[in-house]
Amino acid sequence: MISYAAGIFFLVGFSIAAAADGRNVLKLPSEASRFFDEADDSVGTRWAVLLAGSNGYWNYRHQADVCHAYQLLRKGGLKDENIIMFMYDDIAYNEENPRQGVIINSPAGEDVYKGVPKDYTGDDVNVDNFLAVLLGNKTALTGGSGKVVDSGPNDHIFIFYSDHGGPGVLGMPTNPYLYASDLIDVLKKKHASGTYKSLVLYIEACESGSIFEGLLPKGLNIYATTASNAVESSWGTYCPGDYPSLPPGYETCLGDLYAVSWMEDSEMHNLRTENLRQQYHLVKERTANGNSAYGSHVLQFGDLQLGMDSLFMYMGTNPANDNYTYVDDNSLRASSKAVNQRDADLLHFWDKFRKAPEGSARKVEAQKQFTEAMSHRMHLDNSMALVGKLLFGIQKGPEVLKRVRPVGQPLVDDWTCLKYFVRTFETHCGSLSQYGMKHMRSIANICNAGIKMEQMVEASTQACPSVPTNIWSSLHRGFSA
Ligand SMILES: *[C@@H]1O[C@H](CO)[C@@H](O)[C@H](O)[C@H]1NC(C)=O
Ligand SMILES: *[C@@H]1O[C@H](CO)[C@@H](O)[C@H](O)[C@H]1NC(C)=O
Repeated sequence: MISYAAGIFFLVGFSIAAAADGRNVLKLPSEASRFFDEADDSVGTRWAVLLAGSNGYWNYRHQADVCHAYQLLRKGGLKDENIIMFMYDDIAYNEENPRQGVIINSPAGEDVYKGVPKDYTGDDVNVDNFLAVLLGNKTALTGGSGKVVDSGPNDHIFIFYSDHGGPGVLGMPTNPYLYASDLIDVLKKKHASGTYKSLVLYIEACESGSIFEGLLPKGLNIYATTASNAVESSWGTYCPGDYPSLPPGYETCLGDLYAVSWMEDSEMHNLRTENLRQQYHLVKERTANGNSAYGSHVLQFGDLQLGMDSLFMYMGTNPANDNYTYVDDNSLRASSKAVNQRDADLLHFWDKFRKAPEGSARKVEAQKQFTEAMSHRMHLDNSMALVGKLLFGIQKGPEVLKRVRPVGQPLVDDWTCLKYFVRTFETHCGSLSQYGMKHMRSIANICNAGIKMEQMVEASTQACPSVPTNIWSSLHRGFSA
């Protein structure tokens, strides 16, 4: 009923905006409040869980994203006691950071680090704590502030995750990583416990579509959008060499394309006047980046009718935007030069190398970092290809590893097999690390083909007679521990 009123309003609003200058904000004070105040769903509490799944200065952008989200939600009216932050917290005071104690999420952006609660930092950013926080289970926590989503049946929960990912997996700064099946299980448990009215997930990661594809059932009152489909990278943005250029001294991407798209949209409007589906379309268009090679396909999953919920139900709204009504007209600029998530580390090392004075220790270090990262990548790619050939033959090996299941089917049928085989590969060939997450699909396909554990061990042993020794491949960094 309320959405109906809003729909009529958008038609009217749209023509007014078109008559003006086509911007997607409409300044319309009295009308806006009359139409939308009744959409105020003030019954439950708004909860948010924000998680940056990486560490390291070259991953600056993930922590910048979640800090920015925190500021947005606070301005929207959420309370600290209802926002749970997971961030490794090694960025603000990192020696590489040109503005000590400050984190920005766009070139002209303000400090988003100030006041961020340190709920779970360092090694407390881990899968067990994340899942315990979602379930509201304090006894399952280790370390951290002890804050959990202690929600009730009328509450709304918003989860934003920003990190690297791969088919079926989301990264963590600690091991193991988060498998899609474990996340979905916890969402089902949370639903069964009757402790929310609706739950929204926004996921920024490579192949993030694979987290829900064929896995998230309908009927859990969950709505999710992902930065990319199940088979592609997501993109960093505000990167070195981009326009507008970064402030002096920054040699790392400041944000991620999908992440900044939803946040820069949310902070422009009275969020009573925009719903999840509208934001989805807007973010989808900006993240597609003019359908260039530097963009990805944002997808939505779950109970799509929740898309009619106003953003206000999850994010609140900044009173300063009360007079800025959302108008369904996508005028946000496309980013000129986004960087593939998986290459952002290389870009950082390269930029560092380029700018370091000739003959300096810094230059030598950057070169070493760059070459090590590159050689570990090649080692992983070659080893994986070899495992495939050993298992399926020279011809068929590459084809089996590359296989992509039809849309709507999950990555793998047996998640336990996937975990064991990932661990087996890592034991012999070294950690997959952030880059190697892209091989998750190959390993899933090996499981789907019915390969036995002994065969996988045999193939991995043959492919990798010795484990590489650089920092990218130390065994304890394996993510299927
Ligand atoms: C909370 O976690 C503990 C420890 O993992 C577990 O034993 C307990 O069953 C959990 N409680 C609930 C309600 O799930
Ligand atoms: C919105 O518009 C009303 C009426 O013009 C005005 O009184 C109010 O101060 C404005 N609010 C903001 C936050 O600008």
